[in-house]
Amino acid sequence: MPEPPAAAEPAPAPPPAAGAGGDHWGTRVGVILAVVGSAVGLGNFLRFPGLAAKYEGGAFMVPYFVALLVLGIPLAWAEWALGRRGGRKGFHSTPGIYWALSQKRGMAYLGTLGTIVPVIIFMYYVLIEAWCLSYAWFFLTGTMAELGERAAAGAAAGEVDASPFVGLFTDWAGLDANGAAFAKPGLLLAVLLCFALNFGLIARGVSRGIERFCLLAMPALILCAFVVLLRVLTLPGIAEGLGQMWNPPADAAGWRQQLLDPTMWVEATGQIFFSLSIGFGLIIVYSSYVKRNEDIALSGVSAAAGNELCEVCLGGLITIPAAALFLSATALTAAAASTFNLGFMTLPLVFDAMPGGRLFGFLFFFLLFLAAATSSLSMLQGALALFEEGLGLTRAKAVGLLAAVAAAGTLLVLVFSEDAKALDTLDTWVGTLFIYVLAFTQTILFGWVLGPERGMAELDRGAAMRVPRLLGFVVRWVCPIYLGVLFVAFLYDQLVTRDGGMFAAVFSDPVVAASVGFMGLVIFGTLMAIRMAVPRWQRMSEDQQAEEDESTWISGATS
Ligand code: ALA
Repeated sequence: MPEPPAAAEPAPAPPPAAGAGGDHWGTRVGVILAVVGSAVGLGNFLRFPGLAAKYEGGAFMVPYFVALLVLGIPLAWAEWALGRRGGRKGFHSTPGIYWALSQKRGMAYLGTLGTIVPVIIFMYYVLIEAWCLSYAWFFLTGTMAELGERAAAGAAAGEVDASPFVGLFTDWAGLDANGAAFAKPGLLLAVLLCFALNFGLIARGVSRGIERFCLLAMPALILCAFVVLLRVLTLPGIAEGLGQMWNPPADAAGWRQQLLDPTMWVEATGQIFFSLSIGFGLIIVYSSYVKRNEDIALSGVSAAAGNELCEVCLGGLITIPAAALFLSATALTAAAASTFNLGFMTLPLVFDAMPGGRLFGFLFFFLLFLAAATSSLSMLQGALALFEEGLGLTRAKAVGLLAAVAAAGTLLVLVFSEDAKALDTLDTWVGTLFIYVLAFTQTILFGWVLGPERGMAELDRGAAMRVPRLLGFVVRWVCPIYLGVLFVAFLYDQLVTRDGGMFAAVFSDPVVAASVGFMGLVIFGTLMAIRMAVPRWQRMSEDQQAEEDESTWISGATS
C-alpha cells in the first residue's frame, strides 16, 4: 500500500494551455459577441443584400434558409465542439486541434487550411477595412459632400449618375494601374492604422484584446445600424424600395424558374459560409478559448442568430431598399451585382442624395469598419496560436512574424492593384474554393474521427439546452454529401461553363500566376511550421499524460 504523503498536497492543476498562457474568454457575453463580431462583416451589409436583390429576395431566401439549417448551424456547432475539445487539451490552432483530437500527423497537415484560409483572407480584407475607415472619414469631414455636388452638377435630368463616385473609388483605391495605391498616402495611412489596430489587439491576448474590443465595438455597430435603419425606413416611398429587395416571384412559374436555378443554390450556400464564417477556421479557434464547462450549445446558436439578425434584419433592410429609391432600375441591378460597386460607388451617392446623408453616411461606413475590424481580428488568432504553441515563439515574436507574413500579402494586393486582380484571385481561391475543402475536413473530423457520440457529449457538457441528436447524423452524412455535390457543381462551373475559369487563368495571366504562387509559398511555410510543431505537440501531450497519471496516483493515494 502506498505511503500517504507527509502533508496532504493539493492535486496539481491541469496543465496551462501551452504558449497561450492559459488564455480564456473572460465572460460568456464576451465570447458570444466576439464570435458574432467575427461573423458579422462586409458579407452581412454588402454581399447579402446584393445577392438577395439579384435573385428577387423571396426566392433567394429558400436556398439561403435551407443552407443555414442543413449546413450552417450544424457545422457551426461542430466547430464549437471540436474547438472546445482541442482547447481543453491545450491546443488553439486548427492544425494543433486536428492533431490533438486524432493524434495523427496527417490530420495536422489537413488542418493547414484552417491556418492559411483566415490569414490569406486577412491580407485583402484589411484593405477593404481601410477603405471603410477612409470613407467614414470622408463623410465625417464633408469630402464626400463636395464630390456629391460635382456628381449632382454632372447628372442627367431625373437620374443620378454614379460616375464621380466610381472615379473617386477607382482613383483613390489605386485600381486604375498596378502600384497606383502607393501614390496615395491617405490610403496607406488607413491601411497602417488598420494593421496597428488588429495586431495591437491580438498582442494583448484573447480576453484583454479581442474580447474587450468586441464588447465595445459590437454594441456600437448595432447602434449605428439601427440609427441608419431608422433613417432609411422613414424615407418617403421606402415601401417601394423594400419591395425591390424582398418581393418574391409573382406566380408559380416564376417560383419554379427561380428555385430550379442551380447557381442560386450555390451562391446562397456560399453566402451562408461566408457570413457565418463557417469553414474559415475561425469558430474552431475562438471556441478553443472557451472555459471547459461553459454552455457552447447555446452560445453557438446565439452567435448564429446574432449574425442572422444583423444580416437579414439590418443588412437586408438598409442598403438595397435605400439605393432603390435613388437609382434607376438598371443602375441598381449593376450596383447589386458587385460588393465593391454597391459599397464604394453606389452607397456614397445614395447617402449624398439623402437628407442628413453626411451623418448617416459616416455612421454607415463606420459600422462597416467596425464589422470588418471585428472579423479581421478573428482571422489572425489561429496562426498566432500555431506560432506560439507549435514553434514555441513568445507572443511578441509570434505577432511580429504574423505581421510580416500578412504585410507581404497585403503588399502583393497593393502592387497588383489594377482592377483589384490580386485581391480577386486570393478571394476566388481562398474565400470560395478552400473554404469548401476546410468545411469538408471539419465534417470528417467531427463525424468520423471524433465520432458523433463524443462530439455530442462535448456539446452537452455544461449545456442548458439539448442539441437535437440528429446533429450527429447530419454532420456525419448529410453535410459531406451536400458539400461534395456543391464542390462538384463549383468545379463543373469553373472547368466546363467558364472554360477552365480560375484554373486556366493561372496559366494565362501573370498577376493570377503570381498571386497563386504567393499562396503556394504561404501554404509551404505553414506545412513546414506544422512539421516542426508535431514533435513538440507530441512531447506536450506526453507531459500532460504523465501529469494526469501523477495526479490520479496522488488523489488515489490520499483517498
Ligand atoms: N463573416 C465575415 C463577413 O461576413 C467574414 O464578412
